[in-house]
Amino acid sequence: MEVIILPSTKEIGTLAADAIEALVRNKSNAVIGLATGSSPLPIYDELARRHDEDGLSFTGVSGFALDEYVGLPVGHYESYREVIRREFTNRVDVAPENVHGPDGASEDIAAACQQYEDAIVAAGGIDLQILGVGTNGHIGFNEPGSSLASRTRIKTLAEQTRQDNARFFDNIDQVPHHVVTQGLGTIMDARHLVLVATGAGKADAVRDFVEGPVSAACPASILQFHPRATVIIDEAAASKLA
Ligand code: F6R
Repeated sequence: MEVIILPSTKEIGTLAADAIEALVRNKSNAVIGLATGSSPLPIYDELARRHDEDGLSFTGVSGFALDEYVGLPVGHYESYREVIRREFTNRVDVAPENVHGPDGASEDIAAACQQYEDAIVAAGGIDLQILGVGTNGHIGFNEPGSSLASRTRIKTLAEQTRQDNARFFDNIDQVPHHVVTQGLGTIMDARHLVLVATGAGKADAVRDFVEGPVSAACPASILQFHPRATVIIDEAAASKLA
């Protein structure tokens, strides 16, 4: 695991965007794993800027979302499918049919999760997976206690995560209790993992997953086993590292 500490969210976004640009320029049909939440927004802003100003093109690129809420109506403003369109794919030239997300509205969630796994494989696997980390060490919505070998499936959100995500909704009662998420095993299949984290609120999680034992108690610690994991954080998120 490579840990890079940078002074600002802008520089973090720039460095992560550099990795994505290098991939996309080398492989026109690259497959990118897309995270939501606040952490990746500077990356998406920078990629949109490069698309507008430098002609960076994503025409052959596919995107696979990490996760999705269960129970939000299709098209809900905070559904991750909508967030990813709004924050990234609609701002660049990714073909809409190449943007995929787990189906949290399916009648048969288990079958939809298997189809999602199959779609990732059919696309050739994820070349670069963008990740954030939860204050409790989750990646995707693999909450503490998740199997380190898990695949895409339905999960119950930890109360901490519902509280953390309440800022995106009018109040906490609107935050769904369930999600579908790529599993830790699914995430580990990506060829390059790029995790970004900023702010003192992430310092405990960063310390635990970078320096603690690999354990389901801290799902992000599985990154220690990945042959190519890049962790890009600011000073505040790094403040509890030894
Ligand atoms: C989002 C996701 C989550 C977030 C994490 C951090 O798709 O999978 O793991 O990355 O909850 O969220 P932020 O970046 O909002 O602090």
